Amino acid sequence: MGDKYKWIGPAYDFLSTIYGGESIHNCKRAMLTVEHVKPGDKVLIAGVGHGKDAIRAAEIGADVTVVDLSETMLTKLQEAVDKHPQDLKIRKIHSDILKVDELEQYDMVIANFFLNVFYEDLMSQILAHLVKLVKPGTGKMVIGDFSYPEGNIIKRNLQKFYWYIAALIFYFATDNAVHKIYNYPELLKKHGLKIKDRKDFSYLGLSCYASVLGEKSAG
Ligand SMILES: C[S@@+](CC[C@H](N)C(=O)[O-])C[C@H]1O[C@@H](n2cnc3c(N)ncnc32)[C@H](O)[C@@H]1O
Repeated sequence: MGDKYKWIGPAYDFLSTIYGGESIHNCKRAMLTVEHVKPGDKVLIAGVGHGKDAIRAAEIGADVTVVDLSETMLTKLQEAVDKHPQDLKIRKIHSDILKVDELEQYDMVIANFFLNVFYEDLMSQILAHLVKLVKPGTGKMVIGDFSYPEGNIIKRNLQKFYWYIAALIFYFATDNAVHKIYNYPELLKKHGLKIKDRKDFSYLGLSCYASVLGEKSAG
């Protein structure tokens, strides 16, 4: 299995900070609050990267599983876990998320800055799969990512310009997809989830990121 993040992976969170300050990191942890996650809840994080979100979920006492195709990313997460003052338990799965078939097992499934790496067809397939991993009735799906451009034409174009800078860097560095910004709240609704919470994050005066939480209905 090739590791597309072998070279850029070790610097990934550092580059995020340069590109988006703390707003990206805050967006990833936005729904990991006692309001949404209880100790013992089963949380799955797809395409976890360095895992600041996984660490926050484990700090709350959730039963955390992370999945990533990149060994480099999982090693960076393990380094952070090893340095943490608490003895955090995080289950790591080195795999393609589409091969994880623990259907309807999770109280919360999180996709932070993950779906944007795929072209639209594969993104839709992966989102449908992630929704299947969520427990019906009470389970939640969280997407933290670039927010869909809104506001006047100048703001919308600045948001698009800002996104395409990252998309092009990662296209060349990791072969990620280049595409328009996805409308995640609408996609969650399309997959039958009810939007229950949304938190927006700005950088340099621009509302660039949003974390959206959808709840899966029973049956
Ligand atoms: C853009 S990074 C985001 C990392 C992290 N979620 C964050 O917010 O910092 C995308 C991550 O998804 C992982 N990834 C890409 N395709 C994947 C797949 N099919 N299954 C699991 N992980 C995948 C990559 O290895 C990478 O760690």
